[in-house]
Amino acid sequence: MSQIAIVTGGTRGIGRAISEALIADGMKVAAIYRGNDEAAQKFRDETGQGTFKFDTTDLEGCMNGVAEIEEKLGPVSVLVNNAGITRDGVLHKMSAENWHMVIEANLGSCFNMCRAVIPGMRERGYGRVINNSSINGQKGQFGQTNYCASKAGIIGFSRALAQESAAKGITVNVVCPGYIDTEMTKAIDPDILATVVKQIPVGRLGKPEEIGNIVSMLASEKASFITGATIAVNGGQHMA
Ligand code: CAA
Repeated sequence: MSQIAIVTGGTRGIGRAISEALIADGMKVAAIYRGNDEAAQKFRDETGQGTFKFDTTDLEGCMNGVAEIEEKLGPVSVLVNNAGITRDGVLHKMSAENWHMVIEANLGSCFNMCRAVIPGMRERGYGRVINNSSINGQKGQFGQTNYCASKAGIIGFSRALAQESAAKGITVNVVCPGYIDTEMTKAIDPDILATVVKQIPVGRLGKPEEIGNIVSMLASEKASFITGATIAVNGGQHMA
């Protein structure tokens, strides 16, 4: 029987590439999205997989959403927390709203989705959780105190959860994408982006599939001895 994987923000960008990689591995994917119905429709049409619309910043919504997915598709064995947002700005101009919004969307969602999925994985004695952090959660980035705090938080969160989950057959790992060619990086001022690309030894932005590939490996049964790891996929831009 196919394994069931949840990918948050799974219909677009890096999330879509992750969904496609897991589908290629023979999994059934439930792609979670919050607002973009058009992208969700396109995803369903092109992959034949299901989408589920709920807000991952809302714990009750996540509990209900996961219950619905399990009822429709079966028990979830893979969770990929990929959904994330930016609200860039220097700290001395940042509103409290932009601080809380980013922390809630990136780190809060990670808690909510794990809280909804982990009890079932513990009961069944198997699970794979992959949380997307960022190169900027590792090294910091001018104009991103909110985003960097949320992404660094994901690393600590995942290390703690990995320790709690290891004895139950559940691995919890972190992927730190560098600058990947998606809508998020397209929104960066082209001059700033050109400076960033100069700092990448591989000499280009990453491709979404390059994140899909590593998630596919971590989501597989082959990765059974990898837990609490933080894996950089950044073209050599930051070597920690
Ligand atoms: N390091 C040092 N100084 C910098 C700097 C940097 N990286 N970037 C800008 N500055 C300086 C500027 O030169 C300027 O200095 P002066 O006032 O002396 O001229 C000052 O800081 C203010 O810069 P801006 O005019 O750009 O300020 P702003 O308020 O208009 O914009 C900003 C600030 C929105 C943060 C803008 O700099 C920006 O968009 N930076 C890019 C942030 C970034 O890289 N985001 C990554 C998004 S992709 C992502 O997050 C995905 C992922 O996981 C990798």
